[in-house]
Amino acid sequence: MKVLLLNGSPHKNGCTYTALEEVEGVLKKEGIETEIVQLGNGPIRDCIGCGGCSKKDGACVFYDDSINEILDKAKQADGFIFGTPVYYAHPSGRVLSALDRLFYAGSSAFAHKPGAAVASARRAGTTASLDVLNKYFTIAQMPVVSSSYWNMVHGNTPEEVHQDKEGLQVMRNLGRNMAWLLKCIEAGREKGFEAPNAERAFRTNFIR
Ligand SMILES: Cc1cc2nc3c(=O)[nH]c(=O)nc-3n(C[C@H](O)[C@H](O)[C@H](O)COP(=O)(O)O)c2cc1C
Repeated sequence: MKVLLLNGSPHKNGCTYTALEEVEGVLKKEGIETEIVQLGNGPIRDCIGCGGCSKKDGACVFYDDSINEILDKAKQADGFIFGTPVYYAHPSGRVLSALDRLFYAGSSAFAHKPGAAVASARRAGTTASLDVLNKYFTIAQMPVVSSSYWNMVHGNTPEEVHQDKEGLQVMRNLGRNMAWLLKCIEAGREKGFEAPNAERAFRTNFIR
């Protein structure tokens, strides 16, 4: 079993990473394989809504950033943690660009796999940011994993995040709940409980 942790910050070892590392530590102790994927600080294209991914076997038409590579990793993963710093009370632009393209091109890589979002802020905007990220899970048939409080840490530097004892505890509890759910899903599969097939998509495009 493997969990992919996506760092949506341009800072490789910053505050968001510090939170993800705390979740990762528990996952590893629980015997779950992990990988932290860095979005980095290079340019990441936004989705241009060209629809090309529907003709390209579920890959994005753009290969000049890491999105298709991450999509390949997502296909092999069993669970996801999406981390973001808060920018003006919303998730980072790069994490939104990445997730728009990942889910538009390849939502089947995520379906029925548990996910959780984590936000890091100096002070405020975390709940709004978590709300945005949680919606990727709920539009893609993914069970949302919770913790013992909201999945956020506070700090402007990793040192400050390390002082947020409650935030880090929430990260560890999140790791435990993710590991537990993954094991339950695997046990269910062994007993013959496969994920349900959704009905064929039916779009009414609002009111007609
Ligand atoms: C452009 C920008 C906007 C920010 N907006 C907010 C904000 O609205 N609220 C807040 O508490 N912190 C804000 N911050 C601070 C970061 O969210 C905070 O330092 C975060 O922990 C950084 O995470 P990182 O080290 O993983 O990048 C902002 C930082 C930047 C660069």
